[in-house]
Amino acid sequence: MTFCPPDKSCNKCPRLLDFRRINVKKFPTYFNAPVPPFGNLDAEILVIGLAPGLNGANQTGRPFTNDYAGDVLYPILKKHGLAKGNYGKRADDGFELVNTRITNSVKCVPPQNKVTGDEIKACGTYLIEEIKNMPNLKLVLTLGSVAHNAVLGVLGYKKAAFKFAHGSIHKLDKHNLIMLNSYHTSRYNINTGVLTYQMFDDIVKKACEIIKA
Ligand code: URA
Repeated sequence: MTFCPPDKSCNKCPRLLDFRRINVKKFPTYFNAPVPPFGNLDAEILVIGLAPGLNGANQTGRPFTNDYAGDVLYPILKKHGLAKGNYGKRADDGFELVNTRITNSVKCVPPQNKVTGDEIKACGTYLIEEIKNMPNLKLVLTLGSVAHNAVLGVLGYKKAAFKFAHGSIHKLDKHNLIMLNSYHTSRYNINTGVLTYQMFDDIVKKACEIIKA
């Protein structure tokens, strides 16, 4: 089966559907629909974020695009050869990912940037299909603990056995996959010093080393 990301007919999450409807009225020029993943299914790396930002991915229709978190993420991916072209903060900027795909744990923008457990579970039905349809997938780079737990949940691993920690490498042996943890590249994490550009650069460098090993 090929992977089909959710489209605007998706109504699995009543709260997110209501929020989308509000935003369609408030911001009629925005994308305002489940944001489809970016990059090809034949990639070896899958970067997993949290959810679209209201005025970022939810506006542009591409993950992390026009979000502060993307201003951190994209230049560092490019520096390590995992992206090419100019990141112009628009879905039509011609920017491309190389051997990398980016998706979100929850594909619709949530109110106050907070997702619920039910929403992660409901959207997990897409995440698992996406992972299953990546034949070359070697490494999952989870940005934040929500993405970490979403991956464990959809793949059926016990959360207690795999604790989230920045820089941790988890072997998901049943699936022949490595999961690498990073703090999310959010404005909050950068402003508070929880994550620095150098720390994230080191994570992406590590991801490249893992897939080459
Ligand atoms: N933050 C995320 O986790 N995902 C996006 O797509 C944008 C911001």
